[in-house]
Amino acid sequence: MSTEHLLPEVAEILDAANEYRIEFCRQDRWVGYTAATKALDELDDLRNFPKNLRPNNILLVGGSGNGKSSILEYFANRHPILASSEGKPVVPVLKIEMPSKPDESEFWSLILWALGISHREGDRAAHKKRQAKSAMVNANVQMLALDEFNNVAEAGRATSDLLAAIRNLSNELRIPIVAAGTDKAINALNLDPQLKSRFEPIGLPRWRLNREYLGFLASYEQLLPLAKKSDLAQPEVAKALFAMAGDTVGQNVKLLRRAAAAAIETGSEQITVKLLAELNWTRADAWQTIAKAI
Ligand SMILES: Nc1ncnc2c1ncn2[C@@H]1O[C@H](COP(=O)(O)OP(=O)(O)O)[C@@H](O)[C@H]1O
Ligand SMILES: [Mg+2]
Repeated sequence: MSTEHLLPEVAEILDAANEYRIEFCRQDRWVGYTAATKALDELDDLRNFPKNLRPNNILLVGGSGNGKSSILEYFANRHPILASSEGKPVVPVLKIEMPSKPDESEFWSLILWALGISHREGDRAAHKKRQAKSAMVNANVQMLALDEFNNVAEAGRATSDLLAAIRNLSNELRIPIVAAGTDKAINALNLDPQLKSRFEPIGLPRWRLNREYLGFLASYEQLLPLAKKSDLAQPEVAKALFAMAGDTVGQNVKLLRRAAAAAIETGSEQITVKLLAELNWTRADAWQTIAKAI
């Protein structure tokens, strides 16, 4: 049996029990598709930016399920926490998810929790701010990553306070910020033009049925422990996958996992157009069509 269609570590588990192989398909993997790799390079440039210059920040914008959080996660994991020569921690990238509603006090709490510092959540924002800033300096935080920045979009006093707090933090600590969110994150920055002028946007466009997409399918196939080669990048299969999963990495990954599980369960060991047609699958946008029709 040829296993050339798989990465060696994936080929190794071909003999494992079906349940194990299905579980393996469900685990998150990283595929470095072009837009993600470019974004990671930009984040590295940002991190290496000289501290004495005014940092330029990045806003990673894309639709829901288009890989924003995964990029931040991958980037943060690539720069894990270290200990300095004096035994002090160095946190290269501090990542938090913005509070679901704009709230400065909660923002400081999230930073403190992310640094593992217990504090009284009920304390005043000004107090927590001092605590958070000194904790960030102590932990040598070199870059701040703010996911779900779209949560900040609602106009109002609380939002202005939060945006001003972020602007001051970046000024005082002179560390670059990467924010990620849907197009609503742009609305959020529109509320603070001064902060906005320090951001450069990087878009994660919707996926199209192009060479990039085929490359992604070919890479992902190497990660699915199926005994037979599916050749996902061949036109008929790729077209069928794109028609079902649509234009986000999230839906494509979900569909590939579902299809691989079916290929294991049915014993076909291969993802084909026929197998895809028999899957119980609802396109993500079908929900919107249903909602509009009622
Ligand atoms: N580079 C990648 N390689 C493999 N799978 C990915 C990648 N990026 C995203 N995914 C898959 O897509 C899903 C949705 O991505 P996510 O980063 O959560 O999107 P967003 O934050 O833009 O809503 C993830 O849970 C993961 O399964
Ligand atoms: Mg996300």
